[in-house]
Amino acid sequence: ITVWVPADSAARSVGADRVAQRIAEVAAARGQAITIRRNGSRGLFWLEPLVEVETAEGRIGYGPVKPADVEGLFDAGFLNGGAHGLCIGRPEAHPFLARQTRLTFERCGIIDPVDLDGYRAHGGLAGLERAVAMPAAEIVKEVTESGLRGRGGAGFPTGIKWKTVLDAEGPQKYIVCNADEGDSGTFADRMIMEGDPFVLIEGMAIAGLATGATKGYVYTRSEYPDAARVMSRAIEVARAAGVLGHSVLGSGHAFDMEVRIGAGAYVCGEETSLLNSMEGKRAVVRAKPPLPALKGFLGRPTVVNNVISLASVPVIMARGAAFYRDFGMGRSRGTIPIQIAGNVRHGGLFETAFGLTLGEIVEEIGGGTLTGRPVKAVQVGGPLGAYFPPSLFSTPFDYEAFAAKDGLVGHAGVVVFDDTADMLEQARFAFEFCAVESCGKCTPCRIGAVRGAETIDRIARGIEPEKNRAVVADLCQTMKFGSLCALGGFTPYPVMSAMTHFSEDFSRPPVREAAE
Ligand code: NAI
Ligand code: SF4
Repeated sequence: ITVWVPADSAARSVGADRVAQRIAEVAAARGQAITIRRNGSRGLFWLEPLVEVETAEGRIGYGPVKPADVEGLFDAGFLNGGAHGLCIGRPEAHPFLARQTRLTFERCGIIDPVDLDGYRAHGGLAGLERAVAMPAAEIVKEVTESGLRGRGGAGFPTGIKWKTVLDAEGPQKYIVCNADEGDSGTFADRMIMEGDPFVLIEGMAIAGLATGATKGYVYTRSEYPDAARVMSRAIEVARAAGVLGHSVLGSGHAFDMEVRIGAGAYVCGEETSLLNSMEGKRAVVRAKPPLPALKGFLGRPTVVNNVISLASVPVIMARGAAFYRDFGMGRSRGTIPIQIAGNVRHGGLFETAFGLTLGEIVEEIGGGTLTGRPVKAVQVGGPLGAYFPPSLFSTPFDYEAFAAKDGLVGHAGVVVFDDTADMLEQARFAFEFCAVESCGKCTPCRIGAVRGAETIDRIARGIEPEKNRAVVADLCQTMKFGSLCALGGFTPYPVMSAMTHFSEDFSRPPVREAAE
């Protein structure tokens, strides 16, 4: 009997290792032969640790399991799928999973992340096998026609970026995977690296074949030790099996890769700052142009793509551009892994075609707030994303629709706040975050963020609120249009959305100073 216990760090953080150990102890004490295997997470975080048992009826899930529940699970015959209060039945039939369209996360939470045979048995490597038989320009065409856009946040067409690198002259080209997932409330990159690292390896190898790059790097953060460990192990396994190396799947094309770990700064997720960090330099932002596609890592043509962009390529190559493009709306094609977090009942990863409304995501899928209080605001797109009030819940998840409402989809993190949130504090936090994380290269961001926080403090104390609100708005204009990169340039989104949609939080009575 096989029992699956996730080794994803979200599951481990709520005791998955202790649960696995306890299951082994109780099975041994009862003389029951079992095999415990570790998978990634299915992304139903409120049910973690979600233990699954392989039965004649398929896998049956139990969660959230605590070590103290294990004896009771054995008593209830959970090894045969027996009834128990924690039983959720077949995980695939659970509404949170049944409503999803899992393309990129097809295998995440199902397979052993470093078992290449398991990966292949679940459809893995079909995309790479097709790609090795195609000319580079055909692979680029397929990815372009799929409509895939950068899932890191900017939504730039992946195929066009690859074409720039394919057409660029250079003795050496690189694929750099941006796995410096720094947005608050996001975890899709981490889940893929911990739960299905081969899909990222496969995507990077395809990117290499498509552009002529023979070397790849996964740049991740020191805060992701599990992801770095699983990724590195999967790379070794892939290399030993001939998926990576001097002849990818016997094609004669070389592609190899390694993991690089950053020292930890939000701005390292900005692609040029990331490249400086990889080169061993201080992680300051470089001016563009030149684009990394032309002069990137060590001045060579470089594809810099987010984890999810690259991990979405294998399914596109395996099932064709038309299959992928059929999902979605407008210019937002395919699926997007929405990460639901914050004050919400059902937090986790929900992969779906573009087009679901924000209200459906928060209220129906997320189940509303965990506190049971009304939703006040939802921040979409990380700490630099706009705060949306419930009156904007009809906005569909689509790059253009969010931009039209002065927001952004970004890396698709959704953080929910109830009516106790103070939006003035949130606006101040945005400025403070920018001030702390600024690389210091340009004035609007380096100075503007500090002045912004000071001005919000004046509004909080009721000092000339009207004038100071105008100062904040003016500062935001300068930061938006005068900053060199998205850190300074996008900080106005949370600030201005908070002031616009929650103006009542920015009208405070004057505070009498104690010393005066
Ligand atoms: P950008 O719009 O400057 O560039 C997007 C990408 O397209 C870059 O890789 C750029 O090099 C490339 N590009 C542009 N024109 C090109 C051309 N003609 N040929 C080839 N490539 C071309 O945006 P940027 O600054 O790279 O990213 C900003 C986004 O990052 C924001 O939308 C934000 O949502 C997101 N973000 C994501 C975070 C995360 O944790 N994933 C954290 C912070 C921000
Ligand atoms: Fe650096 Fe901020 Fe300017 Fe970006 S906007 S280059 S982080 S100072």
